[in-house]
Amino acid sequence: MAEDWGSMDKMIIDWMARAVSQTAGLYPYVPGKPVEQLLNEKGLSHAVKLASNENPYGPSPKAIKAISAAASEVNRYPDGDGNQLKHTIADFHAVSRDQVLLGNGSNEVLELLIRCFAGAGDEVIFSSRAFIVYALATQASGACAVSVQEADGLTHDLDAMAAAVTDKTKVVCIANPNNPTGTLHGQSAIQIFLDKLPRDVVVIIDEAYYEFVADELGDSVHELQHPGLVISRTFSKAYGLAGCRVGYAIAAAEIVALVNRFREPFNVNLMAQAAAVAALGDRDWVMARVADSNAERSRLQDALDKLGLLGGESFANFVLLRHSQCSDLLRQLEDRGIIPRPLAAYGMADYLRISVGNHEENSAFLEALNEIVAGLQE
Ligand SMILES: Cc1ncc(COP(=O)(O)O)c(C=O)c1O
Repeated sequence: MAEDWGSMDKMIIDWMARAVSQTAGLYPYVPGKPVEQLLNEKGLSHAVKLASNENPYGPSPKAIKAISAAASEVNRYPDGDGNQLKHTIADFHAVSRDQVLLGNGSNEVLELLIRCFAGAGDEVIFSSRAFIVYALATQASGACAVSVQEADGLTHDLDAMAAAVTDKTKVVCIANPNNPTGTLHGQSAIQIFLDKLPRDVVVIIDEAYYEFVADELGDSVHELQHPGLVISRTFSKAYGLAGCRVGYAIAAAEIVALVNRFREPFNVNLMAQAAAVAALGDRDWVMARVADSNAERSRLQDALDKLGLLGGESFANFVLLRHSQCSDLLRQLEDRGIIPRPLAAYGMADYLRISVGNHEENSAFLEALNEIVAGLQE
């Protein structure tokens, strides 16, 4: 293939130079530490991963059945337009099918939106401690990131975010509830914020954790009003389908049509589509698990509060721990087979984020934590 190794070397150097210049300042997303890695590192036989806000109860049994049935058809490409899933989502939200945008996880939906509506010379606004993918997608789009400080260190400062809008602002991202801080804004606060924005700005309200606050928030899809409003949701959290990678957004049909020009033809795989349809059809089962998770979150938050370690109130499926020696705490938790998520990447070096596990997993975490805290006090 390559006869002239001299020119091949030069080509490789050129490729590397191009890759370095195009990715300068880009940092890859760092996911939670995998269980296998911790077991190998520490020589343990069992570990509890509480690092990625996954659903510890698994998906609906109906979704599992749908995945098994779809498995025998994976020699075929999936429906590139995701018709059945779009219909199911559209019916569920009482919107039209052309208002539904599907993605390989809501992560892809967020990236597509930012890439579609922002580029060099434009600005994308988000809170400095908001979901890190907004910053990564903005960097990748070539737009300028405008990161707005939280007034209290945790909660989006909606007034400051509105004040940061300029004529270069093309996209604003709000995570509600936010990851990693767990904070929540009520619908009226969000609507007041939306009313301050120019009509042509695309506003992404990222509701990956919506189901955990459905009672508090009400129907955001129909209650919030703005021409550029995009509400994104995921099947990764409450629906327990993180491994399938499927998420969606609801927006004006014109927005969806534009973004669809950017996506790859078969972005949501066949098993994911089938699983999501089945999971949405088993909403009672899903919401019963959400109630279990919310009860466990209260248990964890009460316990952290008693230890003086509660980092703030969370409305999602994780809790925040705050301690001045978090790296030591992290190491000691990992020594005991518990994997939390350090938050230094968010400028929160004294916080750990702990996903709400099932009852036994949470008990294992609390047992380990109590032991460590007792050791620290000796
Ligand atoms: C706020 C928020 N939005 C979006 C996502 C992306 O989730 P997924 O791509 O699995 O739908 C996450 C994942 O943790 C998140 O925390």
